Amino acid sequence: MFWNDTKPLKTLPTGPKVALSLFLILAGIGYLLGFLNILLHYQMVDGEAGLSLKDVQITYYGDREKTSMEKAIDASMRGYFATDNDYNATKEWLADGASEKGWDNEIKKIFDNSCNSCHSSAAGVAGVVTESYEDSSNYLAQDTGKSISRLVQVSHTHVLATAPLVFILVLILYMTQFPMKFKSAAAIFSFSAVFLDIGSWWLAKLSPSFAVLVMIGGMCLGLSFGLLALAPLYEMWLKKK
Ligand code: HEC
Repeated sequence: MFWNDTKPLKTLPTGPKVALSLFLILAGIGYLLGFLNILLHYQMVDGEAGLSLKDVQITYYGDREKTSMEKAIDASMRGYFATDNDYNATKEWLADGASEKGWDNEIKKIFDNSCNSCHSSAAGVAGVVTESYEDSSNYLAQDTGKSISRLVQVSHTHVLATAPLVFILVLILYMTQFPMKFKSAAAIFSFSAVFLDIGSWWLAKLSPSFAVLVMIGGMCLGLSFGLLALAPLYEMWLKKK
């Protein structure tokens, strides 16, 4: 098998070496973009800048003192309001019990203007519809965090994206001349990190005390991506003969 091949990656011709390196760099950039996406999307969940345990707890377990609608408009949906007045009017409407009369008089117009480009029944971005009063009422119950259907959806896409990518990166690592024990430890660590990363979301949905696992899972996955991408790059370009 190729992993018993004693020829170092360094001795590959320049073409394959450059191609392989570009792939490794792309994988690294992919991870960083994923991380940036999380940072931009979730850091304001608790109303304060910076990713915190509270952001994770509210995202998965929910802010049980708020409705889903209030949580959403205080966090990532906040920026979609055309004006601060629209945001304040919506907050007031929610605080006053979110009546259908208030919806017809004022809120429908605001939502048509600011929200329904994504949340019309036709677009239904993220499965969320806020077109009519009935649609929006679905988000007026206590916030219990990510819905199971959304968790299934996100887990599905993440498993399908990360498992093959990590597998390819692990194969490339096995082509290097690092000690077999190191390579196998890195491979097992990386696949475990995928399990932990995705599994922790489900645990955090069960109890806010598991939110810390989401952070640890994310860090482990970051560490494994860094290791899997950098080790072969180091061997190809930097390691002395
Ligand atoms: C550019 C597209 C876009 C616009 C505009 C938008 N949203 Fe969203 N909305 C999303 C996405 C994507 C999600 C899923 C986010 C997630 O799961 O973290 C979402 C989720 C939601 C949720 C569900 C939260 C939950 O806990 O399930 C609500 C409620 C919501 N949006 C309300 C609004 C309101 C109110 C507005 C207008 C002020 C708005 N959205 C504008 C894209 C948009």
